[in-house]
Amino acid sequence: MLFGGRSSEHAVSCVTAAGVLGAIDRTKYDVVPIGIAKNGQWVLAGNEISGWSLTGGELPEVAPGDRTVSLAHLGGDHQLVVTKSSSVPEELGAVDVVFPLLHGPWGEDGTVQGLLELSDTRYVGAGVLASALGMDKHFMKVVFEAAGLTVGPYVAVTDREWTVSPDRVRERVAALGFPVFVKPARAGSSMGISKVDSLDGLDAAIEGAREHDLKLVIEAGIVGREIEIAVLEGRGSDAPRVSLPGEIAMVDGAHHEFYDFEAKYVQGDAVNLSCPADMPAVDIARVRELAALAFEAVGAEGLSRVDFFYTAGGDLIINEINTMPGFTPSSMYPQMWAASGMGYPELIDELLQLALH
Ligand code: DAL
Ligand code: MG
Repeated sequence: MLFGGRSSEHAVSCVTAAGVLGAIDRTKYDVVPIGIAKNGQWVLAGNEISGWSLTGGELPEVAPGDRTVSLAHLGGDHQLVVTKSSSVPEELGAVDVVFPLLHGPWGEDGTVQGLLELSDTRYVGAGVLASALGMDKHFMKVVFEAAGLTVGPYVAVTDREWTVSPDRVRERVAALGFPVFVKPARAGSSMGISKVDSLDGLDAAIEGAREHDLKLVIEAGIVGREIEIAVLEGRGSDAPRVSLPGEIAMVDGAHHEFYDFEAKYVQGDAVNLSCPADMPAVDIARVRELAALAFEAVGAEGLSRVDFFYTAGGDLIINEINTMPGFTPSSMYPQMWAASGMGYPELIDELLQLALH
């Protein structure tokens, strides 16, 4: 199990790891928990994991230290060996499968997946390209549009465009109409995102997003309900499995303008998560079909959560795909599977089995 990592979603990943470690069948799996500290160090984690949560005040963090581990591929049949580095190196064993419970850049974006491919190691979830597409809010839209999915109006802004011709960028954004959502192209958990109601607030929002990524995606605000679907790869050559739709509704008076980091993780009562969402059967069928299409459009494997806006007119506009969605026991992905008949421990087992076969 790999978790933590160098991205701004480090703490979310730690809590996901705590959830998985608490639920995985220890009679079947021998777990080696490896945390990636924010400085990039890989360390053998211990019992601290079980106490991790996002609501306890201080955010959990993998501590760098002297329990570093190294991975070595010795050739042969998927034989990735984990070694504890100390004055007397101690071999922790060969790894059958890696569960990269990492969110954001350097984990969910194909980089760790590339490392695992190079070492011929089996792992849970999407491969290099699908992970990279799922991380980039610009290129995923390009692929979705090519597959016939409806995406909302947006502009992508590169570092060079903003640096060389900011007025041109302001013009393109104004043409979308306000409000807009300014987003770092490659981040997650709503990090660096702000809602902008007029041209006055645009520059500050852009600078805020650029702290996370120099490439931005600026999207026209869409009025609609937020509907999500959990997708699980099919066994063998079976089609992807899709959950019932879930809905995220901001609680009135919770003082969040949108589903931001605080509302997602910190303030437990800011949102209502429900599954199945109250929708006509025909739209339920349609959104499930679109989610499977999105999963296949990016070439995802294992799992993904696909997020949509559902307008009053019945349009289903795809917002994004997350190839390693929040995976704590109370996160939407496992909740939607629970409502669809697959519990958390069973889901973990299924993901590992998909990766092993
Ligand atoms: N990026 C967060 C973890 C999510 O998609 O749930
Ligand atoms: Mg995302």
